[in-house]
Amino acid sequence: MANKSGALSATKITKMKDSGEKIAVVTAYDYPSARLADAAGVDLILVGDSVGTVVQGRPTTLGVTLEQTIYHTEIVARAASRAVVIADVPFPYCQLGPDEAVRACARVLKETDATGVKIEGGASRASTIRAVVEAGIPVLGHVGLAPQSVKALGGYRVQRDLERLTEDALAVQEAGAFATVIECVQSDYAAAVTAKLAIPTIGIGAGVGCDGQILVFHDLFNFTDHGSEQTPKHARVYRDLHKIIDEGLREYVADVKSGAFPSDEESFGGAK
Ligand code: KIV
Repeated sequence: MANKSGALSATKITKMKDSGEKIAVVTAYDYPSARLADAAGVDLILVGDSVGTVVQGRPTTLGVTLEQTIYHTEIVARAASRAVVIADVPFPYCQLGPDEAVRACARVLKETDATGVKIEGGASRASTIRAVVEAGIPVLGHVGLAPQSVKALGGYRVQRDLERLTEDALAVQEAGAFATVIECVQSDYAAAVTAKLAIPTIGIGAGVGCDGQILVFHDLFNFTDHGSEQTPKHARVYRDLHKIIDEGLREYVADVKSGAFPSDEESFGGAK
């Protein structure tokens, strides 16, 4: 589909590195959130597979399906008029090799108005990224902590291997990605890799030395049910929606029980 006029593109996101303008990114999974993010000046909206944890209440992202990704991406892309919308390819399409990945990514682009896709993994995913880019699909890379490999990694841990991070980031760049996410790595390592790359880095838990930052929408607004766990250390809560909604719902329940809702003004009288 044609780019909306005045809208950002993957190429423009890449060029933001040269101009020095920081890139603001959030995830979104629904129409009102995507509209708000777009209107607020967010540059790129990621329809993350974090939908599996923050919306579906799963312990990991592994259960998210391609159909669910397409469903959410179609909604978000329809809501955004300026921001670039990127769909996160769910496990295990990119792990299955280039052919399977190209098929899945092509479906996303055919069935939604997204600009491109995000592919998790570094050097080991380079041939897959290259094949998807060669199919004409812009790719956002994702190095550092790879949540889709949580079982192999044994948990969500800060990554502290500079050599591996550098090798992965350079491989993703060489394969044709227009930018890359760097997740949960030591800040000085992320800054060093950012300085080495020609494409922008978008950090999450990777310090201020990246070219941009991404946060999960539900973390930004404390709208995730973390149970007994805290909001992740890297996430700043800008507004506490959990508290606001909790208080509002309790008030609503009390008003229904007491008969204080609805009032006469909120009710319909006879026709005049
Ligand atoms: O799924 C997601 O939201 C992500 C971001 C945390 C980068 O991959």
